[in-house]
Formats: sequence, structure tokens, C-alpha cells
Amino acid sequence: MTEQTIPAAGPDLPQRRNLVTEIPGPASRALTERRQRAVARGVSSVLPVYVAAAGGGVLVDVDGNSLIDFGSGIAVVSVGNSAPRVAEGVAAQAARFTHTCFMVTPYEGYVEVCEELARRTPGDHDKRSILVNSGAEAVENAVKIARHATGRQAVVAFDHAYHGRTNLTMALTAKNMPYKHRFGPFANEVYRVPMAYPLRWPGGPARCAADALDVVTGLIHTQVGEQNAAAVIIEPIQGEGGFIVPPDGFLPGLAEFCRAHGIVFIADEIQSGFCRTGDWFACDHERVVPDMVTTAKGIAGGLPLAGVTGRTELMEAVHPSGLGGTYGGNPVTCAAALGAIATMEAEDLAGRARRIGEIMLPRLEALAEKYPLIADVRGRGAMIAIELAEPGTLTPDLAATAKVAAACHAAGLVVLTCGTFGNVLRFLPPLVIPDHLLDEGLTILEEAFATL
Ligand SMILES: Cc1ncc(COP(=O)(O)O)c(C=O)c1O
Repeated sequence: MTEQTIPAAGPDLPQRRNLVTEIPGPASRALTERRQRAVARGVSSVLPVYVAAAGGGVLVDVDGNSLIDFGSGIAVVSVGNSAPRVAEGVAAQAARFTHTCFMVTPYEGYVEVCEELARRTPGDHDKRSILVNSGAEAVENAVKIARHATGRQAVVAFDHAYHGRTNLTMALTAKNMPYKHRFGPFANEVYRVPMAYPLRWPGGPARCAADALDVVTGLIHTQVGEQNAAAVIIEPIQGEGGFIVPPDGFLPGLAEFCRAHGIVFIADEIQSGFCRTGDWFACDHERVVPDMVTTAKGIAGGLPLAGVTGRTELMEAVHPSGLGGTYGGNPVTCAAALGAIATMEAEDLAGRARRIGEIMLPRLEALAEKYPLIADVRGRGAMIAIELAEPGTLTPDLAATAKVAAACHAAGLVVLTCGTFGNVLRFLPPLVIPDHLLDEGLTILEEAFATL
């Protein structure tokens, strides 16, 4: 597709699904052939349609197909692609200066983003932040700071956790294939404990919160020793691991245990943060106040920015120059973040995420009534998933999950799968998606189930 034939961009794109070729079309297939000669196959794509423009709730590909987006580039473009405040902030900043390195000659945008992080993240205590480039880098830094501040080494992570692909974050991530397989040896002093996963908790969902808390704190006591634990890191709603929502009481109990033993409680809000779940942060739901929060993805409307925000006494423990990086908090990404945060505030995107949940959950619950292979419908706000298992069992149904996803893709709906067992369909629409596209996307999903 040439520049001239792209009708518009960002939120001005017509908000409709429109397929003019098969998916992927000939121009996308030609690019896939080119790609195979240049790009390493270790980087793969869920749906190889090559994007020419995107905005609101649609992606337009190089063949001129307009697809409904239920993925937001993995929970990133919550404010929509090329959201006006983001695009304008980026353009203005790029025209002024693109980089100085905050560690050499600083600039206001970095400070302003850290002020916003202090204001928006849970808790009204005194906070400090650092900015980095990716979610994994944020997690690495959170652990560095927790270790430094406590003088302890052990880090506790959960079953089904996903924290990134760098060496330490691979160690923290639970799933072997594809994230860890043959990439070891991994960082040590990482201990894994069970996640409060209501659907799969051996004693059933009603016992999950209390039992899981007992097991987790018991394992930390017997296998780590509270006095050796620098940090417990948890996604308040797990992302790649399957959109697992811990039952009420589990996170507050865990935070309380950490507080009692001087263990830094790190909430990894990289996927769940910035209005995605209907609050600014998923921890807000139960008023859990972590000692440290890692953020990325939704923070900057698509530009690569991430942060670690924590209690001042922890963050300030690290000596000057102990933290940083060449690009961390690059001025263009900071301008994007300020535009994205202003959009979330002005358009009440947390409220919009709650509304998306209200629209999606009843339709998905009705679908689960009809198709017993849907073992669970879960999530909050616009972070929603269904888990597929052989009817009457918890045996993951990977084949059905893949088939439904493929049928959605062919019909022009971008959906993602996830889960330790690969049997979860997750829905992460941009929070600015119009209702009619949300409805149409759900209808496509219903039709996809009918093909099974
Ligand atoms: C909860 C969580 N933590 C960390 C990461 C890693 O972020 P990045 O891919 O930006 O390194 C992700 C990415 O999916 C995530 O969902």
C-alpha cells in the first residue's frame, strides 16, 4: 500500500472491520518471504499481517484490510495507536531534541514522568522512580534495588509468572518453552512458590486464598528463610501465565507478610497497570500498597519506556550512578508518556476499561454456558480471558484454543493466546475501542466457537 492510499491514521481511521483479501493477503505474504531472509526466526509473529496504519480499535494492513484489535500490541496502546496527545508530544519533542542522556545533561520530561508515577501508583507515601527502556529492565532494576536496600539476596517468584527475557527475568519467569529453553544457566537465588490460581487450586477456589497464603509463606519460611528474602515479586493479575486473578485476600495477605518480615513487596504492573483493569493499577482494587511497582507497556502509548517506583527509603539506598542506562527515560518517550497519562486522565480510561469489562464478561459467560470446553471466564476491566479445557476436566485444550484463535484471525479479529498450557484466549482491546467494534469482535469470537 502506498502512502497516498492509506486513508487516515490514528483515531481518524474509519472504525470498521473490512476484509478485502484473505488474511494474510498477498502483500503481507510477500513481506513474510522477505522477512524470512532477513529476520531471525526466534522472533515470531502471532498474525503475520503487516501493518500500514492503526488507531482506535483497528489495524489496517498493507493489503488494505482493516482488522479489529483485541491485543493492543500486548497491552501497550491502551490510549489507542497514535493517540493525538502522544503523537503531538512525540513530534514536538523530536523537533526540539531527541537525546542528551539523563545521566549527562538532564531534562524536565524525565522529572515530570517520575512525578506522575509518584502521584498515580498505589499509596500516598514518599516515592522515587527511575526510568528504563523495557519491562524486563524495570524488573531487573527493582530486584537490584531491593537487594541493595535490604542486604539480602533471595527473590521469591510465582508459578505461571512472566517477568521478561533477560537473564534474571528469565530466571523469575516460570514457563520453559519458549522463554527459557536452552537459554540457561539462569541467575540464582530465585525461589518459586505456587500461585493462587482459583480454577486449578487443588482444594477448590473457595480455599484458594487462605491455602495459597499458607503454602507460600510456609515455603518462604522453610526453604528461603524470611531474613534472607530481599523481595517477593508478583503480577497482581498474571499476564502471559494466563490472566490469573488471585482471589480476594491473597495479595493483601502477602503484602502484610512481606511488611512483617522486611521483605520488599514488588508488584509487577507492567501488563496490568495504567488503567487496563479499571483502576490506575491492579493493586488499587484491594487497596494493596506495594513497596515497589514496575511499569511499562501502557505507560507511553507505544513508545519504549518503563519505570521502577518505590518507597523513598528503598530507592535512595542505592549510591549515585548505581542505576541508569544510556537511553532510560529518553525525552521522546517521556513526552509520549505524558501524552498517554494526560489521555487516560482526560478520557477516564479507567472508567472505560470497567465499561469494556461490563460489555465483555456477560457475553463470554453466555458463551461458556453454551460451550462446556470454556472452563473459566476471568479478568478485570479490559484484561479478560477464557481458559479452554476438555469438558468436565481441567485438561488444557490447546488444539481448540489454537483453532478458535485462527478462526478469529481469518475473520479479521486480532486475538492473543497465553497461559502456561497455551490454552487461554486473552482479550486486551485498546481502551478507546468503540462499542460497535467490541460487539463485532465478540460476535466473531462466538462464530469461531461455532466452527469447532
Ligand atoms: C508482567 C510483565 N512483566 C514484564 C514483562 C517484560 O516486559 P518487556 O517485554 O517490555 O521486557 C512483561 C511483558 O509482557 C509482562 O507482562
